[in-house]
Amino acid sequence: MKIIGTGSELPKKIVTNDMLSEFLDTSDAWIYPRTGIRQRHVISDEKLEDLAISAAKKALDNAGIQAEDLDYIICSNVVNEYITPSLSCIIQGGIGATCPCLDINCACAGFIYALDVADSHFKSGKVKNVLIVCAEEPSRMTSWKDRNVCVLFGDGAGAAVVSEGEGVKGIKLSAASSTDKLYQIRTLEPTPYITKEEHSESLQMKGQDVFKFAVKASSGDIKYLLDTLGMSADEVDHYLLHQANIRIINSIKDFLGQPEDKFPTNVENHGNSSSASCPILLDECNRKGLLKKGDILALSAFGAGFISGAAIIEW
Ligand code: UT7
Repeated sequence: MKIIGTGSELPKKIVTNDMLSEFLDTSDAWIYPRTGIRQRHVISDEKLEDLAISAAKKALDNAGIQAEDLDYIICSNVVNEYITPSLSCIIQGGIGATCPCLDINCACAGFIYALDVADSHFKSGKVKNVLIVCAEEPSRMTSWKDRNVCVLFGDGAGAAVVSEGEGVKGIKLSAASSTDKLYQIRTLEPTPYITKEEHSESLQMKGQDVFKFAVKASSGDIKYLLDTLGMSADEVDHYLLHQANIRIINSIKDFLGQPEDKFPTNVENHGNSSSASCPILLDECNRKGLLKKGDILALSAFGAGFISGAAIIEW
């Protein structure tokens, strides 16, 4: 399969580090050097499904195909206002498609996992065009009183249309259960029979553990793929990495021994938008004309689980 179109949509509200310091014990002087983040887009009066639908329509338009040409929709999402129906079903209705659809929750690695699901459908000969939409609102998972976590995230949606072709050279997925390092829990509806203790907690994170995992997993996934494909890091034109922290990106860059200009970033403007991060970056690079036909792209992401994934793609 190959990627034939991309799209993205961001909430209009921009929250700068200085705005955060008006109600949190934090500052741009702390946030920027430690994360590379200057600002993030945060949902206010929008609904996540509307951002997702808009990103999907832009990707279809960029691909030059119609919603009725789609054979499958895969949506990566951790949380949104609906428990059910799935976000992919809402997107299907919003764009006027009629194909089957599926939601996956693979945290920040959702785009790579979605590519892998799509790849399996292509290999089984079931589909010709698949829409992947990653839509996330982590700003609704964090406590806005917790400076350790809320400063890191932003909301948004990124989408890609994949079609028959030879673009995807390899995908590597990993998972290593470690559920106490990055999690959020919430209580469900009460019943007369619940006797266990339950409570809700906003997104909790052991930042340094996540940092170490991220660098190791992402570097390892990319190295594994390069070795398996008999390629060197030099042969990759663009490394599109999950935009969680510029220091994580720089550590992976140093491990691979590659120059900075191969690592486009948007973490400074968007913060960490979970699984939407990679496809938003891909769309921005695509629309800027940075990606030339035949360029080799390495995508890589990591997140809660822990899970991680990487893909090598010829554009
Ligand atoms: O998609 C995956 C999602 N998560 C990540 O990628 C996160 C990965 N981890 C990280 O990016 C970094 O670990 C952080 C940016 C979260 C933290 O950076 P750090 O250099 O590891 O800082 P730290 O956790 O060691 O905290 C240093 C200090 C602490 O104060 P004390 O205990 O030394 O007095 C924190 O309380 O910084 C304090 N701190 C803050 N101060 C001002 C933590 N957050 C803030 C803040 N503003 N926002």
